[in-house]
Amino acid sequence: MERTLVFVKPDGVQRGLIGEIIVRLEKRGLKLVGAKFMAVSDELAAEHYAIHEGKPFYDSLIAYITSSPVMAMVWAGPKAVEAVRQTMGATNPTNGEPGSVRQDLGLEIGRNLTHASDSVENGEKEIALWFKPEELVEWERAIDAWIFE
Ligand code: RTP
Ligand code: MG
Repeated sequence: MERTLVFVKPDGVQRGLIGEIIVRLEKRGLKLVGAKFMAVSDELAAEHYAIHEGKPFYDSLIAYITSSPVMAMVWAGPKAVEAVRQTMGATNPTNGEPGSVRQDLGLEIGRNLTHASDSVENGEKEIALWFKPEELVEWERAIDAWIFE
C-alpha cells in the first residue's frame, strides 16, 4: 500500500490543530502507520528541505520548521500521496481549494500548517529520513474492507 510522510508544522502545533488535521486524514479513510511528536533539528530540516536550498524563502522556512515541535506521521492507503495532498490543499492557502486544511485553517504560504510528500518516491525517501523501520506499525484495521475495495 502507498505511504506518505505528513507532519503538522509548528504553527499547527502551537494553534492546537494536531487533532483537527488527524481527524481529516482518519475520516478520509487513510490508515496511520507511524507517529511521533518531536523537535526538528537543524540537520533534519536541512536534509528534508535540501531541494529548496538557495531559494529566497529557504532561511525563513528552516527557521519556521525548527521553531517549535512538529507532529510527524506516516499515513497509508491507495494513492495516499495524492489523497493527502488534496486534503492539505494548495501550498498557498489563499489559492482557493475550499474544504482543504490549508484554505480552511490558514492564510499564508509561510504558515501553511502541514507537510505532505509530493510523490511516491519522495514519500519513501522522507519516511526513511524521519522514521526508523521499527517505529512503523503494520496492523490490520477491522474496517479496511469497507474503505479499500
Ligand atoms: P510541503 O512540502 O510543506 O508539503 O509544501 P508544498 O509541497 O506544497 O510546497 P513546497 O514547494 O515543497 O515548499 C515547501 C514549503 O516551503 C514554504 N514555501 N514558501 N514564500 C514562498 O514562496 C514559499 N514557497 C514555499 C511553504 O511552507 C511550503 O509548504
Ligand atoms: Mg513539498
